[in-house]
Amino acid sequence: MRKMILLGIATFLGAADLQQVIESPDASAILKKDALPSAKTYVMPQGCISDDPAAIARGQYIFHNLNGKETKEPAPEGLVKILPDGKEKQYGNCVACHNIEGAKGYGNIGPDLSNYKALYMDSGVRNGTFVYQKIADPRVDNPTSHMTVNLTNGLMNEREVCDLASYIVSVKK
Ligand code: HEC
Repeated sequence: MRKMILLGIATFLGAADLQQVIESPDASAILKKDALPSAKTYVMPQGCISDDPAAIARGQYIFHNLNGKETKEPAPEGLVKILPDGKEKQYGNCVACHNIEGAKGYGNIGPDLSNYKALYMDSGVRNGTFVYQKIADPRVDNPTSHMTVNLTNGLMNEREVCDLASYIVSVKK
């Protein structure tokens, strides 16, 4: 019976090591390891969102790519394809859930971010603080968000979040 419950938990968690859960008399350590740190509210760093073409180019690259190794175009200045330790650099892959100008094979779990400046910023519906916080930790705005957490779990650093925000609010062709 207990084994069945544990199996249920393991299936629910997906990422947890099934064998480990079954053999461990107390699965709480594994449950803890898999859990995300709780939602965090951030103050947007000064000068975060900019119209610097280099920042926008980095944001675009992060938005449209997942694995550095697989990207066809060269990494823009300030980004790498392979980390110094030889591992491939992981990018945002935001197109998995969002459409935006120039997106190829995008998903639609998240809202379409095309024409974001005119539709969301100039209209006053959103501001830079909202965009920064949404990318850094979407759970503050929506506790049941299906969006990936990026800053609180260390997947990205502050500058990468700023680059993405700069890209999203930029005017695109
Ligand atoms: C797993 C799907 C998923 C991924 C991946 C994802 N998002 Fe989202 N995103 C969402 C959903 C769903 C929403 C709607 C609000 C919510 O639930 O948080 C959203 C909302 C947003 C918004 C707010 C739009 C508004 O209402 O103004 C921004 C900005 C955004 N995402 C940026 C990004 C960026 C940048 C990335 C990549 C680092 C990304 N998203 C990756 C699902 C995703």
